[in-house]
Formats: sequence, structure tokens, C-alpha cells
Amino acid sequence: MSEGKVKLGIIGAGNIGGVHASQFSKLQELCELTAITDVYRPQAERRAAKYGIKHVLDTPEALVQHQEVEAVIIGVPNQYHAELAVKALEAGKHVLLEKPMALNGEEARKIYEAANQTDKVLMVSHQMRFESVPMQMKAQIDRGELGRIYTAKTGWYRRKGIPGWGTWFTRMNESGGGPLIDIGVHMLDLALYLMGNPKPVSVYGATYAEFGPKKKGIGTWGKPNWSGAFDVEDLATALIKMEDGSSLSLEVSWAVHMDTDNHPFIHLMGTEGGASYRGPKGKLLTEKFDRPFEVDIMKPEDDEGERLRLSRHFLACIMEGKEPISSALTGLTNNMIIDAIYESSRTGNEVKLDWNR
Ligand SMILES: NC(=O)c1ccc[n+]([C@@H]2O[C@H](COP(=O)([O-])OP(=O)(O)OC[C@H]3O[C@@H](n4cnc5c(N)ncnc54)[C@H](O)[C@@H]3O)[C@@H](O)[C@H]2O)c1
Repeated sequence: MSEGKVKLGIIGAGNIGGVHASQFSKLQELCELTAITDVYRPQAERRAAKYGIKHVLDTPEALVQHQEVEAVIIGVPNQYHAELAVKALEAGKHVLLEKPMALNGEEARKIYEAANQTDKVLMVSHQMRFESVPMQMKAQIDRGELGRIYTAKTGWYRRKGIPGWGTWFTRMNESGGGPLIDIGVHMLDLALYLMGNPKPVSVYGATYAEFGPKKKGIGTWGKPNWSGAFDVEDLATALIKMEDGSSLSLEVSWAVHMDTDNHPFIHLMGTEGGASYRGPKGKLLTEKFDRPFEVDIMKPEDDEGERLRLSRHFLACIMEGKEPISSALTGLTNNMIIDAIYESSRTGNEVKLDWNR
């Protein structure tokens, strides 16, 4: 447990590092932004000046060893997640780690094991769990309004959304994959959470790369590097089966010729009712008086936002010694499923998840 304000250090002062700095800076009664580092030092200096961060450090190692820092926020490319999260946990720091937890299941397991060796908090940054509409859906699910959720569908298609072509985003060894690990991991994470975290046991999947290799489907996120490479998928589709017999279909793309209105989506189908999430809107559905019956779920106008709620949850877990809702186990589960989708696509076979390791 922590007493007083939690002192935070940020590793990675890029897009998401800036988002975290801005959110935690709104919670000054609970925390203090104490240190920051980035391989590109001017970027760290800019953020430090903007948010009044005392220490700009030269390396992630210096930051995790810094005696004032109690909790570390990791917002660097995926290939560094495992190494830095393990270092921070071993240095006795709490960790808020950007998604995906790791490049693959092997690396995710190292974080999971390191987290289990300490009493520190390891939380994966899945802000969609903190969006108002999914939170309202979850409250109804927990009250039993949907009955048993036996199947679900989730997906996120972008028509023209390849981020940073040629940068780490589109290089397998640095990102661990394309849209599946970039945006698919959010949908997988949220769908499993809303389903009540059933244990996945097998996966059948297929992936395609039809736009990226032709330098088509480029989005506005990130600056392209035309001398870089694209060796990831741009579309993935999968069916995941759970131990309790339930199933989840997952579909995701960065670029596709398809009507992509009302994305991302999750449809949960339960024995007593259903819930549908489409972008910022949601619906609860059932049958009443022998007719289809549905209720809209809206985000309140004064909603403070999912990212602020996520930041508060991280601090509350530290202060109260609680396990976060997006724990190391859920991060490992997501990575294991994603690995299995790639393996199934490569081999053409169903892949069984190995939980006995
Ligand atoms: N939760 C979300 O909605 C969300 C959104 C965007 C990105 N992300 C995740 O955040 C992470 C970073 O993405 P981004 O968009 O901010 O990327 P980015 O490229 O904008 O920023 C990454 C920063 O890390 C720095 N960096 C790279 N390697 C480093 C190292 N070893 N040590 C210190 N600094 C290093 C870079 O100089 C850069 O400033 C990724 O894992 C990504 O998946 C999450």
C-alpha cells in the first residue's frame, strides 16, 4: 500500500505517454508526475516542461531505479514491454503497461510470472473497459439480466487505417502483429471481460495482408516511413471457444473494402437477454410481453472519460492493495489467443491453448 500521493514515472513520451501525462496531471490530489524518459530526450523534455515533471532521466533503467518513483507507466513500442515491465517489477515498482501486454505469449508469461513474485500492481492499459456504455452493460450482466452468455461477436474494421506504415507498428518483430494485436486486442479484452472471463481453450483463425504490402489503406495515425517495411496482417478473423462451451468471434482490420459504420462493435448473446455495443452507443435487448424489447444505453453528457477512470483505478489499486480489473492474467490470456490465431492461420488447423505450463 502507498501512503500519500503516488509518485509516477513515465517511460515513453510519445503519443500515449502524452495521453497518460495529461490524465494523471488531472489527479493531483492522488499522484505526482515525478520522472520521465524517452530514447529521444527532447520529447521527454517537452512533456516534462508541459506537465511540470521534475526529473528527465536518460534511460528506462535510471527511471525504474529512481528512489522517488513508486509506479511506472510504460508507453513504448510493444517489443520493449516485457523487458521494461519485468525490470520495473523487479525494482519494486507498480506498473501501468500499455496494450498489448507483450509481443507474444512467451513474453507475456515473463511479465505474469514477475508480477506473481511481487505484491506490486501490474495493470494493462485497456481503457475501453472504463468507457461508460460497456460499464453500464457490465453492471447489468453482473445483475444476471442477460442470463448465461453463450456466444458473442466483436470486431473493429477500418477502411483506411494502417497506422505509421513502415514504422514499428507494421514490423512484426517490433509490434508482434498488425490490427489483431493493435486494435483487436482491445476488442478481445473487452468481450472476454463482459463475458465474465471464461477460460479460452481453442482457436481457429485466418489472417490476410492485401493492402499494406501495396502501400494502400494508409491511415492518419503516425507518420509513415516509406523506406520501412510492412510484414504484418491487415485483416484477421477468428473463432475462440471456451471451456464452458461459450464462443467468441473476433474480426478486425486496418484496411478493407467494406461499410465500416458503427464500429467497433460487441454483441453479447445471453439466454435471457443481449447487449450490443456500437462505437459510443449501446443497447440492452430482451423479449417482453411476447415481443422484442430494447433499451438504449447512452454515455452521460458530463462523462469524465474512460482514460481518467482508468488512471483512478490504477491509483486505487496501488493505494488499496487491490488487483486491477485488467490484470497480468487477462493480458497473458489475450496474448495467448493472439498467438493461437496466427498459428492457426499459418497451419490451417485449430489450435488448443496450453494452460499447463
Ligand atoms: N491504449 C491505447 O489506446 C493506445 C493508443 C496508442 C498506443 N498505445 C500503445 O502505446 C505504446 C506506444 O505507442 P505510441 O502510439 O505512443 O507510440 P509512439 O511511437 O508515439 O511513442 C513511443 C515513444 O517511445 C519512445 N521509445 C521507443 N523505445 C524506447 C525505449 N526503449 N525506451 C524509452 N523510450 C522509448 C519513442 O522515442 C517514442 O517517443 C504501444 O504499445 C501502443 O500499442 C495504446
